[in-house]
Amino acid sequence: MTDKTKLQVKTVEELKKQPEEYQTACAKLVISHAINELYGARAYDEPAVALAPNPYAKWLTCRVAMEEYGHHVRFFELGREMGIPEERMLPDKTSKKPLSIMNYPLKTWEEFVAIKLLADLAEILQVEDLLHCSFHPLRNLARMTMPEERFHAQFGIDFGLEMVKTPAGKKKLQEAVNNVYPHMLPFFGAPKSKIDSGRLEVFSGIILSSGTPISRPSSKKRT
Ligand SMILES: [Fe+2]
Ligand SMILES: [Fe+2]
Repeated sequence: MTDKTKLQVKTVEELKKQPEEYQTACAKLVISHAINELYGARAYDEPAVALAPNPYAKWLTCRVAMEEYGHHVRFFELGREMGIPEERMLPDKTSKKPLSIMNYPLKTWEEFVAIKLLADLAEILQVEDLLHCSFHPLRNLARMTMPEERFHAQFGIDFGLEMVKTPAGKKKLQEAVNNVYPHMLPFFGAPKSKIDSGRLEVFSGIILSSGTPISRPSSKKRT
C-alpha cells in the first residue's frame, strides 16, 4: 500500500482505512464536483431551456440540464457514503465558493452554446484524470459521467456549427466565444499556477489553433 502506483481502494469501507491525507484528497474532489455540478446546472443549463430557440433545442437542453443535475446527485450520494456532511456539498449551505467560471452571467443562447463548447471540453480534460484514479467508486463515477460530458461538448459543437452557417450567426457565436473564453482559463488553476499548465496548453491549442473550436481530444489514449 505504500507504493502509490499499486494503491487500489475498491470501496468506501477501504477508503476509511487509508491515510488521512488520501481521504481528504478524495473528499475534496467529491465536494468540488458536487458543488460545481449543481451550481452550473442552476446558473447555466436550466436557464438555457428558456433561451433555446426551438423545441428541438429545448429538448436537448433539457437533457443536458437533467444530466448536469444528475452529476451533482451522483457525487452527492458518493459523498454521503463517504461520511461527508451534506451541507459541505450544497452551494447554499457551504461557504466554499464554486469555481470562478460560474460567475459568468449567462444572457444569450449563443453564450450557452459557447459555454457548453468550452466549459464542458475543459471539464472533460479534468475528469479524464479521474478515469484512472485509485479510489474505485470515484473512478466508476467518472466513467459513468464522461459520456454525458462528451455529449454536452458535442452539443456545443453541433449547435455552434449550425450558427456559423450564416455571417450573422458566426458573428454572434464569435462574440460569445470571445466573452466566455477568458472565464474558462481559471478552470486549470489560478494565474501562475503550474498545476494544470499541460492541460491548459491542450485546451488553448484546441480552441485557438483552428480559430474555430470544432475539435476535441481523443479519449482513446486515456481509457
Ligand atoms: Fe457535469
Ligand atoms: Fe456537462
